[in-house]
This record gives sequence, C-alpha cells and structure tokens, in this order.
Amino acid sequence: MPDNDVILAVDTIHATYNHAITALHGVSFEIRRGEILALLGANGAGKTTTLKAVSNLLPAERGQVNAGTIRYDGADVSRRKPGSLVRDGLVPVLEGRHCFKSLTVEENLVAGGIGRSGRRTEISADLERIYSYFPRLKEKRRTLSGLTSGGEQQMTAIGRALMSRPRLLVLDEPSMGLAPLIVQDIFQTLRKLNRESGLSILVAEQNSAVALRYADHATVLENGVSVLAGAAADLRQREDVRAFYLGQQPSPAAKPTRLHAVA
Ligand SMILES: Nc1ncnc2c1ncn2[C@@H]1O[C@H](COP(=O)(O)OP(=O)(O)OP(=O)(O)O)[C@@H](O)[C@H]1O
Ligand SMILES: [Mg+2]
Repeated sequence: MPDNDVILAVDTIHATYNHAITALHGVSFEIRRGEILALLGANGAGKTTTLKAVSNLLPAERGQVNAGTIRYDGADVSRRKPGSLVRDGLVPVLEGRHCFKSLTVEENLVAGGIGRSGRRTEISADLERIYSYFPRLKEKRRTLSGLTSGGEQQMTAIGRALMSRPRLLVLDEPSMGLAPLIVQDIFQTLRKLNRESGLSILVAEQNSAVALRYADHATVLENGVSVLAGAAADLRQREDVRAFYLGQQPSPAAKPTRLHAVA
C-alpha cells in the first residue's frame, strides 16, 4: 500500500553507467510531503546519480537503473518522460546552474514557465512571487544572466524551476562554488518556500553543515549505498558522522569513544 504522505519513495536502487560502471548499489530513502531531505556524501558517493535517477534523466547519460523502484506520488518514475514529470511537479535543478547566459534574468525565468502553457497574467504573477523570494533577481531582471554573479545564477536556476510550480524540487549542490553568506541566503529562501507553500525539497550537498541546518531529515551515501538516515537535528550533533562519512575532520572536542560507537 503506498503511503499518501510520502511524495517520493526510493527503494534499494542500483544504477550503472554504460551497463558497466556501478554507481549505486542500494540507495533507499523516503520524502514526506512538505519535508526537506538532504542527501549527503563525499565526492563520488552517488548523489548526482541518485538525483538523475529520481528525475529519470539517467538514460540521457547512458545510465540505467537496474534494480529497485522509485515512486513519485505513488507512480513508478521509470515509465515517465522527464518532461512529463516536470509537468507533474517533480522539477530538477541540476549541477552547473544552467542559465541561458545570453538571455536576461527575467527571460530565463519566463523560459521556465513556457512548458506549462501559462497565461500571460499567470506568468507575471509567478514572476512577482519569485521576485518576492529573491529580491536580487528583481534588481537584475534586465541584466544578461552571463553577467550576473554565481549566486545570482543559482537563484535564477531555482527561480526558473519555480516557474514550473513544483511540488518536489530536486537540487544538486546549490552551494557549489558560492560564498558562505550567499549559501545561507539560498538555503534560507528554500526553507521559507518550504514553510510557506509546503514545497517538498530533495537537496544533495557536500556541504553537510549548511544542509543539516535547514533540512528536516538526511540520508548519507557512501560508495553508492545509503548507510545512515535520521533527523537532521540528530545527525548535526554527531561529529562521528561528519568524520566517517562526509570526509570532514572532527573538531578537537570530539571524543574517541564517540567515534568508536559508529565503526
Ligand atoms: N556520466 C558518467 N559516466 C560514468 N560514470 C559516472 C558518470 N557520472 C558519474 N559516474 C560515476 O558514478 C559514481 C557516482 O558519481 P556521482 O556523480 O553520482 O557522485 P556525487 O556524489 O554526485 O559526487 P560529487 O560530490 O563529486 O558531485 C562515481 O564513481 C562516478 O565516477
Ligand atoms: Mg554530484
């Protein structure tokens, strides 16, 4: 029986590239409606592959899910085209914050609304809503995206995704390459969107400190396997988690006994 409170259920998925390189071999997690889930893990742990599997974008990269299931709103995503998933509210913002650099910020945003066949008045209402969440984008609305900062390009990529009126936003490392204050700003805005509109969010991050501060739950990947899951507030307390799975040094205050508890 599918649980109606669960918007996304990933169950023991295995994935390969070119039918040869194994990237995932046992990733499971669930996202409840209205929740932010952080997918954590070091370089190459399988975060991006998981997000692409969820959005059914692996086939475009010669990748395939070989085992396990992914259900969005109770239905198997492998039977759906990525575009149809977007129309249904599962909207990815993948790495590299792909903006059209020769279009203005506003043109980039409007491009995100086109697939929805939105009416003009609807599009301008959505734009105003996005500008209320990202005031910097309003200031830069007439600037070519290629001339805006990395943080503004990330905001534009998120704003463009919001134009599709997502119910589940899937983000790959929104903090990548950005200054700490901008990262805070972006995560605060994601949290606000989540609180005010019930938007569910799946966010992959190497920056576990910031992700755990804003997420409700987290799942940790190690070498293509989900090895640990829990409430973000609990994981945040555990130096051992950071040291063992996230490739970060424990602070000098972390006692060795706590480290042994996980080994
Ligand atoms: N297009 C591809 N073709 C072949 N192998 C790939 C491809 N993309 C990823 N891989 C491999 O799959 C594994 C998981 O990579 P993935 O990009 O999902 O990890 P990640 O957690 O997102 O890492 P990062 O933090 O560096 O972004 C790695 O071993 C990687 O080398
Ligand atoms: Mg990645």
